[in-house]
Amino acid sequence: MILGYKREAYSGLGIKIPARATLPKKHTHILLAGKSGSGKSLTGLWYIWQILRKHEGLLWIADFKGGEEYEALEGSRNYASGQDAVDMIHRYYEFFCAVRQNRIRLPQYHALFIEEWMGLLTWMEVKEPKEKKRLMAETGEILALGRGLNCGLILTIQRADAAMFSNGSREQFQCIINLGRCTSEAFKMLGFAAAAALEENPTAAYKPGEGLALIDGQGDVEEIIVPKINNSGEMLRQIRYYLDREPDLDSLAREAAIGSGPGL
Ligand SMILES: Nc1ncnc2c1ncn2[C@@H]1O[C@H](COP(=O)(O)OP(=O)(O)OP(=O)(O)O)[C@@H](O)[C@H]1O
Ligand SMILES: [Mg+2]
Repeated sequence: MILGYKREAYSGLGIKIPARATLPKKHTHILLAGKSGSGKSLTGLWYIWQILRKHEGLLWIADFKGGEEYEALEGSRNYASGQDAVDMIHRYYEFFCAVRQNRIRLPQYHALFIEEWMGLLTWMEVKEPKEKKRLMAETGEILALGRGLNCGLILTIQRADAAMFSNGSREQFQCIINLGRCTSEAFKMLGFAAAAALEENPTAAYKPGEGLALIDGQGDVEEIIVPKINNSGEMLRQIRYYLDREPDLDSLAREAAIGSGPGL
């Protein structure tokens, strides 16, 4: 999957050199951070579209905020908004547990995409603190153990505070992207040590869809640009097409619990 195109060649020469994530074994968990308006939702959709269209894996989308960006997916059994998004996270976790307990070798990547993780947790902290704890524990476990099982998490988040992830599980993301302006605090949070050491903030003038990517948690931070998406309506229509043809989480969890099934 392409995370973005390398900035220098793209903005200077219009040449597209991709910065890639290698799904599923190498890069299982992806964190897409950035302030409001930095392009997370649209970029997230582009990632989803690529994964589904290139058959790189199966996805389920939990969108607690239920924003208009994803509205066209409403009604698909593999997309959930509001409280249903919370239930979807629990159901994905059940599936993950069944895969782990029964030592199922999933033939392909099965990932949960969570939109606005911070918004969800912040809301839960006020309304249902116990639920917040449960969500953090479940996602923490998937982050810690999902890699060998082909079970991944793709999260969008405004600020990647360590407090949003249980027991240091923030360290488990193999690809970290920050779109838009990155504060010096965010550089440190995201592990962009080299960028934090620079005197001038290279992200100061970044527009939506422009950002930094740290792949594998090591090496250089890449400056990337996400291509301008001119027809997000059509992209959503195609995502919906693929989502509607995927198995639902409950039947997958049932199959995993008995150790076999057509989807596994
Ligand atoms: N790749 C891109 N190229 C050009 N413009 C973009 C790109 N991505 C996003 N934008 C512009 O930025 C706007 C905000 O994008 P988006 O809604 O994805 O941001 P966000 O980070 O999800 O914001 P919020 O946190 O408020 O949900 C979009 O409406 C679009 O106009
Ligand atoms: Mg958004």
